[in-house]
Amino acid sequence: MRAQRQISMPSDAPLPRNAPAAHPRHNPALMPGVVIVGAQWGDEGKGKITDLLAERAEVIVRFQGGNNAGHTIVREGKEFKFHLIPSGILHSEKACVIGNGVVLDPAVLLGEIDGLKRRNIDVGNLRISANAHLIMPYHVLLDTAGETKLGKLSIGTTRRGIGPCYADKALRLGIRVQDLLDEKILRTKIRAALEPKQQALRELSVQRRKLRKEAGEEAKAPAEGTAVVPDPRLDLHSMVEEHVNFGHRLEPHIADTAKLCWDALDADKTVIFEGAQATLLDLDHGTYPFVTSSNPIAGAATVGAGVGPTDITEVWGIAKAYATRVGAGPFPTELDDEVGEQLVERGHEFGTTTGRRRRCGWMDLVALRYAVRLNRMDSLAITKLDVLSGIGPLKVAVRYRSKEGAVLESFPYHQSILHSATPEYEELPGFDADIEECREEADLPQAARDYLGFISDFVKVPIRLVGVGPDRDQVVWIGS
Ligand code: IMP
Repeated sequence: MRAQRQISMPSDAPLPRNAPAAHPRHNPALMPGVVIVGAQWGDEGKGKITDLLAERAEVIVRFQGGNNAGHTIVREGKEFKFHLIPSGILHSEKACVIGNGVVLDPAVLLGEIDGLKRRNIDVGNLRISANAHLIMPYHVLLDTAGETKLGKLSIGTTRRGIGPCYADKALRLGIRVQDLLDEKILRTKIRAALEPKQQALRELSVQRRKLRKEAGEEAKAPAEGTAVVPDPRLDLHSMVEEHVNFGHRLEPHIADTAKLCWDALDADKTVIFEGAQATLLDLDHGTYPFVTSSNPIAGAATVGAGVGPTDITEVWGIAKAYATRVGAGPFPTELDDEVGEQLVERGHEFGTTTGRRRRCGWMDLVALRYAVRLNRMDSLAITKLDVLSGIGPLKVAVRYRSKEGAVLESFPYHQSILHSATPEYEELPGFDADIEECREEADLPQAARDYLGFISDFVKVPIRLVGVGPDRDQVVWIGS
């Protein structure tokens, strides 16, 4: 029998406050664990900021989401678009990690790897967590079928299979990257996961046909992902064969990525945790159900990369100088007028992943303050300030009003209140000058500086970086 351990500390003994830690802590002068998160509804330009901050880092890790994301980096006029590969890949000397919290479509990943190789970018530094989950063909079909079934209530997902993949992960029916390396296990797991999907897809298809019939529509060709006939994409044997091949190709990149992060952090090297999507799309804290199926907030970096909360020493939030949203869901400051149109045109507001037109609106400081607190941000980067030049006066939402007339100073936690809330604005002078060539804070027009100052004062976080154009050099650093 095992001996019982005696706990001798009396219950009222003070906790030893300054006792030396069992392991030496990081050098506090360094900031080894830096999380970068989106502060709005995504597409804030996190890729560019990650690419810039990556200069000071040793490891760049993506910790959630999948190829629903789209990161664009422009370097010396050349455009790079990534969906899965962390934005740090352009730094060949740094480890670039797909963490365990990511859901990964292997065909998409291999396509990105091939695309980079064709452009002579070295991908030897890419590491993939063996514990990351795979987006399987049935996840993509289910995403489309589910959205089609929801009709007017649909979320407007990217239809990349993100939700169904995370659902399988929670159901413990997921296929992980490590499973690609063992054909027997892979076959067993795919078989177990596939059967309920075939059933669900069949039922969804029958329901759709019934609804069409009731609506008096003639049976058209079944929509993609809803066919009653066995779909060749759902064939077990070809799926296993294809995925074994994916495994062969990905094997050199598969690693224990949590340990890779620990080793870097313990050696006081900087690790950047790169978020995808954004705070207001967070599964728990966003505008549910119009959210993604992962947690894009800073706290999730610990789970999605496998590090401890105290490994995170700095949090950067990235926000556009205005607001955008793709897909359905509440968006209090949305503009349906000419200004909204101007923002779409001037900001090229079309999704990197789906090409969808983004909804545009004024900067929402109620939502930004919420994101600042939720992520406990230390610094803000404001991107695309150049898009606002010539649009003036500028408005920023400083509070909401409920439909009953109540003043709402903070972001409402109740969905129905948010849906019907109207923003109240502060109006600030606009600026007309082209700011794309500005590189110092002093180069910016006074009205642009005042606009940034207002945002920073309102949310009580310093703005340390401002984007003034698409190229990675088109930034203004503020302060040291
Ligand atoms: P899903 O992540 O594909 O399931 O989509 C859920 C919601 O998140 C939809 O409204 C999408 O438009 C939105 N979404 C997902 N990824 C991104 C992104 O990278 N940027 C902006 N919106 C996104």
